[in-house]
Amino acid sequence: MNISDRLKQLKPSATLAVNAKALELKAQGKEIVSLAVGEPDFPTPEYVREACKKAIDDGFTRYAAVPGLPDLREAVAAYFNTFYNAYAAMENTMVTNGGKQALYNLFQALLNPGDEVLIPGPYWVSYPPMVQLAEGVPVVVPATADAAFKVTVEQLEAHRTEKTRVLLLNSPSNPTGAAYNKAQMDAIAGWAIEKGLFIISDEIYDQLVYAPAEHVSLCSWWTRYPEQVCVVNGLAKSFAMTGWRIGYVLAHADLIKAMTKIQGQSTSNVCTFAQKGAVAALSGGFAVVDEMRAAFRARRDLALKIVGSWPEVVCPVPEGAFYIFPDVHRHYTKAIPDSATLCTALLEEAGVALVPGAAFGDDNCIRISYAVDEATLTSALDKIAKVLFK
Ligand SMILES: Cc1ncc(COP(=O)(O)O)c(C=O)c1O
Repeated sequence: MNISDRLKQLKPSATLAVNAKALELKAQGKEIVSLAVGEPDFPTPEYVREACKKAIDDGFTRYAAVPGLPDLREAVAAYFNTFYNAYAAMENTMVTNGGKQALYNLFQALLNPGDEVLIPGPYWVSYPPMVQLAEGVPVVVPATADAAFKVTVEQLEAHRTEKTRVLLLNSPSNPTGAAYNKAQMDAIAGWAIEKGLFIISDEIYDQLVYAPAEHVSLCSWWTRYPEQVCVVNGLAKSFAMTGWRIGYVLAHADLIKAMTKIQGQSTSNVCTFAQKGAVAALSGGFAVVDEMRAAFRARRDLALKIVGSWPEVVCPVPEGAFYIFPDVHRHYTKAIPDSATLCTALLEEAGVALVPGAAFGDDNCIRISYAVDEATLTSALDKIAKVLFK
């Protein structure tokens, strides 16, 4: 088969490799606990499911407008306005197949071949390949566990060249859970605007930030600099709706039009009745989200208490999302020299599936998702410790 050169440069997903191995072991009858997943373990709220079922019966089963149903776009604008005073209109929003397609559309719409995108690391696995698919160049700006996985303006500036076009921010972060505070965010956004960069702010975990930390959105920067900022969000993480594929974006109306062109020639509209469920989610109040946040917070504290007692492991307190990203490299040995080998050993010897830090650009770390109940989390962490300290 002749596969395009563009595709040959893409690495296969490390997350999927872990999953494949876990499934293989499960098929052999082994008991496997997965802390590798990037999705809430809660069900989608009932009123959202009901709204979707009703939408099917009401005939919302046909093609719809490419950028989204008007009532959902209005609800998305209202979300950004209510939570973050964005002053957005419907024309500044668009509905996409998950936050993922919003990001894909953005890179396709913004990048010319060779344009560089600054990506603070550790980073979400899909960012570099998406940039490459748009013929851009991902430039990783690494931050370590000792720096709480946050980059500074000085580090970003050191990686900027005349080809730098976009800065991609993800706070709270997958995989580290790190969330920038207002002073840090303002410093970075102010620098990027002054240098003429375009900022993509992936805020998919905005509802999962744990007090006293507060989510700092770039919506207010978008209001002031609509041609240089956009915000990506969606319902997957906040409303436990990963399979619904509902993402959205806040951007300048011209950029929305450009992305609509891309979506119109690739996937068309997001599933029409899923969009009706999304309207119900955004209009139904956020009490369910508050409950999920409280549960995640308790699990985070539990995970931190256990991992915090592990010797020579550095684990900054994640202020958001549902991951911890401990630096375990001081326990690497000749037999286990890196995060991938460690995760294979954990899977085979302890029956625990994790994603190696290397997949996110930091081989010193492992990503542990705490989107599981507390008993499962405790027993899985105990099993990890047995392999790590044997
Ligand atoms: C940082 C980040 N951005 C975007 C996404 C995309 O989410 P979805 O496409 O499911 O809305 C994910 C999902 O794991 C993520 O972790």
